[in-house]
Amino acid sequence: MQYRLVLSLAFVTGALAQKAVWEQCGGNGYTGVTTCASGAVCQAYNDWYSQCVPGSASSSSSSSSTKTTSTVSSTTTSVPTPTATGDPGLHALATRKGRYFGIAMDNPALSDQTYLSYAKNTKEFGVVTVGNSLKWDATEPSRNSFSYDRADAIVKFAEANGQAVRGHTLVWHSQLPSWVSNGNFNAAELTRIIESHVTNVMTKFKGRLFHWDVVNEVVDDGGNKLRDSVFSRTLGEEFIAIAFRAARKADPACKLYINDYNIDGLDAKSTFTYDLVKRLLAKGVPIDGVGVQAHLISGSVPGSIQENWARFASLGVDVAITELDIRIPLPVTDAKLQQQKKDYNAVTKACASIPRCVGITIWDFPDHYSWIPSVFPQEGAALPWDSNYKKKPAYYGIQEALQ
Ligand code: G3I
Repeated sequence: MQYRLVLSLAFVTGALAQKAVWEQCGGNGYTGVTTCASGAVCQAYNDWYSQCVPGSASSSSSSSSTKTTSTVSSTTTSVPTPTATGDPGLHALATRKGRYFGIAMDNPALSDQTYLSYAKNTKEFGVVTVGNSLKWDATEPSRNSFSYDRADAIVKFAEANGQAVRGHTLVWHSQLPSWVSNGNFNAAELTRIIESHVTNVMTKFKGRLFHWDVVNEVVDDGGNKLRDSVFSRTLGEEFIAIAFRAARKADPACKLYINDYNIDGLDAKSTFTYDLVKRLLAKGVPIDGVGVQAHLISGSVPGSIQENWARFASLGVDVAITELDIRIPLPVTDAKLQQQKKDYNAVTKACASIPRCVGITIWDFPDHYSWIPSVFPQEGAALPWDSNYKKKPAYYGIQEALQ
């Protein structure tokens, strides 16, 4: 069975400056070079993001006035893809609204051919987030010793399908090797360590990742202070500025995010985050977006998500829903699946109603790959596909919100 990936191509002659493969070449608000080097074509993922991908044209640009289309095809296994049912696909629908729809995936999935046959379907998923392998314990397990094979495997999978990639995450108190957390470094030394880590990891993937979660979960659960960590204890709020400045320098075209959980509705933690971002922006810290993880509980999705996310956007930054899942208190019933459908619908509608909400990522897509059962044993079934890759009502809740 084959599926076809439609590429938007444009041919421009006489261009002097050209972008390399995997670099951004277009999109709303983008002011850089729109021409790709020989051997690459400018693929428009949606209204706001085009990227040079390998292709046969001698050069190309994302200029809308000169767009033509072409196709590439690839072979899949015999497992039917979700779009075989005739659904247009969530990413295909999202792109019509100038947004993306994507998934997080982790390395164990790379040996699961059934999983991959679904994950590579660009009608459903236009963006892939590296779920674990770009975290500090994976990329710099000991000082100045960098390891990228696992992350590279996921990035290459996405690139081979023409999917854009979100990087997750550079500076996080968790999955942090003990050489950092227990190193007793002074402020100057920890600054150098953060700068070196951010610079190395971002440079390795420069031009290939379109978003990075530069810092993750920096606000305390109580919502009235920064989270206690080696970074905040040693450097206070400045560690965030240090990380973002190094990130901007390493890959200037990449959108840089501050990412957190429990910042869904209007409350103390989201207000602290709003004030923090506002303060950092005022100091010139290059934050491009707020990442809302959105690990939610069905039946308890805050009614103020739209207002809260619009409040982040009012700071002049993008908002991305970065890790969406909506868990159900067990046991699962038809009524609970219908409630979950309403919840997914509400989240998707909230994002679609905010011009600067750029897209939605679900934290993996079939239930048997979800992190929820291992952490919340009384809850589960959090994703839009069940463990047999059958679309749940939740899928149609998203689909209806994007139509
Ligand atoms: O790789 C080892 C493997 O070698 C070992 O055999 C196995 C035994 O437990 O552990 C494996 O590591 C696990 C890793 O995921 C990779 O599968 C860790 O134990 C496990 O703790 C880790 O969990 C990840 C979690 O972050 C860590 O905090 C989840 O997969 C990942 O989905 C989750 O993602 C986070 C986001 O980064 C931030 N927001 C919340 C979200 C959910 O917790």
